[in-house]
Amino acid sequence: MKISKIICAVLASAMVLAFAGCAEKEKTTLIMATNAEFPPYEYREGDQIVGIDAEIAQAIADDLGLELVIEDMAFDSIIAAVQSGKADIGVAGMTVSEDRLANVNFSNPYTTAAQVVIVKEGSAITSPADLVGKKIGVQLGTTGDIFAGDIENATVERFNKGFEAVQSLNQDKVDAVIIDREPAKVFVTQNEGLAILDEAYTIEEYAIAVAKDNTELLDQINASLAKLEESGKLEEIIGKYIKAE
Ligand code: ARG
Repeated sequence: MKISKIICAVLASAMVLAFAGCAEKEKTTLIMATNAEFPPYEYREGDQIVGIDAEIAQAIADDLGLELVIEDMAFDSIIAAVQSGKADIGVAGMTVSEDRLANVNFSNPYTTAAQVVIVKEGSAITSPADLVGKKIGVQLGTTGDIFAGDIENATVERFNKGFEAVQSLNQDKVDAVIIDREPAKVFVTQNEGLAILDEAYTIEEYAIAVAKDNTELLDQINASLAKLEESGKLEEIIGKYIKAE
């Protein structure tokens, strides 16, 4: 009698555990936080968000057997979205920095990038050293924003979109814009009379942001990235959007 009671109790608790396991819904999506104002990494084409980051994230989601969901938001909201679990990953041409590493983890870098200076053609600003005391346009919360803030006596005008900073340069409301090289190239082709200074401001690395406590996903992403690199897929995606000079 006693033994059968124990068996019953064990079976009952096993069933409860099994049900609890079922209730914990299996994750089927990979939510990517981005700011789709950053061609060629992420931008809108009709109602689609396309670009290098969107394709890399899609390839990772495919590899992990997850459905990619892209959430477009302000650039300076991305880290908080990842930290709070609202998004699983932040993929936004995001530069790895010490400050950000205090709040999120980063995958291995998937590309190198640079901050450059855009000026009006014929501007007296011919190198980053000439930015002292100038009015500089940047996208809010970017590394360009941080660098501009370190320039002696410079006034920093912060815009929600990099493109708006470029527009204000066009209208002579700022003297220069500090922004990442590839978007700079796109914006300069879209607007006549602008030029990129030869000397880059900094060299940086882009990586994927993941919540500090989600090391399992971080490892999976690094493994996927390694596969993409080995198979040549990563290079293929980047080459589709950035033509060698
Ligand atoms: N690389 C720069 C940074 O991390 C700018 C990134 C802006 N990205 C974007 N999707 N708007 O601060």
